[in-house]
Amino acid sequence: MIIYKRIADIQKRLMDAGAQGLSTGFVPTMGALHSGHISLIAKAKKDTDIVVCSIFVNPMQFNDPEDFEKYPVTIDADIYLLEKAGCTILFLPAVEEIYPEGLKKNVQFKVGFIETILDGKYRPGHFQGVCQVVHRLLEIITPRKIYLGQKDFQQCMVIKKMAAIYFPLLEIIICPTVREISGLAMSSRNKRLTATQKQQASEIFKTLLFIKKHIRPGFLNNLLQTALQNLQAKGFRVDYIAIANAHNLQLLDTWDGKEKTVALIAAFLDEVRLIDNMMISE
Ligand code: PAJ
Repeated sequence: MIIYKRIADIQKRLMDAGAQGLSTGFVPTMGALHSGHISLIAKAKKDTDIVVCSIFVNPMQFNDPEDFEKYPVTIDADIYLLEKAGCTILFLPAVEEIYPEGLKKNVQFKVGFIETILDGKYRPGHFQGVCQVVHRLLEIITPRKIYLGQKDFQQCMVIKKMAAIYFPLLEIIICPTVREISGLAMSSRNKRLTATQKQQASEIFKTLLFIKKHIRPGFLNNLLQTALQNLQAKGFRVDYIAIANAHNLQLLDTWDGKEKTVALIAAFLDEVRLIDNMMISE
């Protein structure tokens, strides 16, 4: 694996690869890598000739400065995992390389109502920050395919909307959520939890399973209320528990029994914010 820190250097390498007819698969990350990230690398490796992973903790997408400061950085372990997974290129830029004009918004990305609900509502500006960095990285790397995790369901939708406008030829591959044996969705933020908290955190997954098991056509309020009380009783501070149409993320308070739905949860354990989701009806 070769590590590039400068845009000019990685672009030269990717131009040479392009001239040889090689395809590029791209996996953007913020590091503190785990098996979820590595599953994306493995999928990209199957599909494309050159796998580029980026590690960049993007200051523009953190609405909470403390969350940014405490975001785990484990770069040596990350490089080891990427080498082992057979990643071809690691792009590891400094903040000045990505934002040469400083940390400011350049454009307003038009992603519609999706950024006004759920994480968009609880983390104002977050998805604009995600769009800004992913747009910049896609311009630099110009991959044929990008690999994203379903773990961040709403982020996938936002990136799809952004890419449809600016990168219409880009193929977007959504990969399933990788979980601990307990069911807890793997996440870099789990590194901030104690062993006991990690066990406790698997209640989010269990609550999603509960919703999946008990959903019936008709009003969803009672089900959502029971799920909320269950999580609160287990010590979580809940931002949201919602059921939405899986195609457009319209929030549902009734279900017709046919619509494809997804349940989504964001909740804090102490000051660590965790998110997860599950397809409820296919
Ligand atoms: P990060 O949280 O590091 O996640 C990078 C990619 O890994 C995302 O596509 C995410 O959905 C995926 N991922 C995370 N946990 C996963 C799991 N348990 N199973 C499968 N995939 C998982 O998401 C970001 O970084 C940033 O917002 C980014 C897109 C890099 C822009 O800064």
